[in-house]
Amino acid sequence: MDSFWRTLGRPIKVLAPMEDVTDTVFRRVVARCGRPDVFYTEFTNTDGLCSPGREAVIHRLQFTEEERPIVAQIWGNNPEHYLRSARELAALGFDGIDINMGCPVKKIVKNGSCSALIENKPLARELIQAAKEGAGMLPVSVKTRLGFHDLRTEEWTGFILEQKPEALIVHGRIAREMSDFPAKWDEIARVVALRDRMGSDTLVIGNGDVTSLGEIAEKAERYRVDGVMVGRGIFQNLFLFDPQRAGRNPPPPERIAMLRAHIALYRSTWGGDKSFEVMKKFVKVHIASFEGAAHLRNRLMEASGYEEIERILEEWAPVPA
Ligand SMILES: Cc1cc2nc3c(=O)[nH]c(=O)nc-3n(C[C@H](O)[C@H](O)[C@H](O)COP(=O)(O)O)c2cc1C
Repeated sequence: MDSFWRTLGRPIKVLAPMEDVTDTVFRRVVARCGRPDVFYTEFTNTDGLCSPGREAVIHRLQFTEEERPIVAQIWGNNPEHYLRSARELAALGFDGIDINMGCPVKKIVKNGSCSALIENKPLARELIQAAKEGAGMLPVSVKTRLGFHDLRTEEWTGFILEQKPEALIVHGRIAREMSDFPAKWDEIARVVALRDRMGSDTLVIGNGDVTSLGEIAEKAERYRVDGVMVGRGIFQNLFLFDPQRAGRNPPPPERIAMLRAHIALYRSTWGGDKSFEVMKKFVKVHIASFEGAAHLRNRLMEASGYEEIERILEEWAPVPA
């Protein structure tokens, strides 16, 4: 049976995994505004999943049918834990498993995980094999960068392609660049060319700095990727993936209603398990692009609880034109 990746139209549009953002609540908010073809969980630590304290990470794997197809992203450096985690993810009903080999955060890199694996091919190979073994029929993909200290596009992604992942998601930067420099789409195109030369059938998904459907189409055509993954672009436009609605600027009452609905879903899903402070950052996503938005946003960002947010929203009245 073909993996879900093979059933999707091109270019494949993917919502990027984003820590403390793309949980089940945010994914459902996006699904209702405009569906991407694929959703990802936040990255989930395999050591955590295999530890007695697993309750601390398991919330990352919560999802509903509305969010399918959904890929669970994992990270860590212990093959045995990859094997066990992948088995569990398959049993939980995920559509795919992705290995994070791109996160450049210092304390994660220090323990040899994520982008540090770019410098440790033997372990990277073992982890992919372990994930595949545990995943059974589920497709395993890898999300990575173009190098660690310097550009190693062909050397590194060629190595990953030899491991035959179902998809390779290439964030067009090296780890050292964090997210500070423009993504190098020419290098992503080199990965596609290499894939073709190798006769590999791994799908190549490009990632970096894309903010609209038009850009997704343009990048797919120009750089010949099979799909495009969008991260921060969704903050500017929650309707980004909907061709009918992406171009409109919702009026302030609609934006406020969306924020209220988002908060209600967040509270009913998480109760007290996730903090008000984490919720607050979504205020910026909804309260934007209208006159007086900055003022309202600043007031909301200073609120100390949900009741205060509601009071400020009730008080708010549109600025007369
Ligand atoms: C807040 C935030 C959290 C992120 N968390 C993850 C993560 O959990 N796993 C991952 O592979 N990448 C993570 N990333 C990187 C994004 O998936 C993406 O590769 C990066 O933002 C570049 O794409 P963009 O320019 O479209 O945002 C994160 C990025 C941001 C901004």
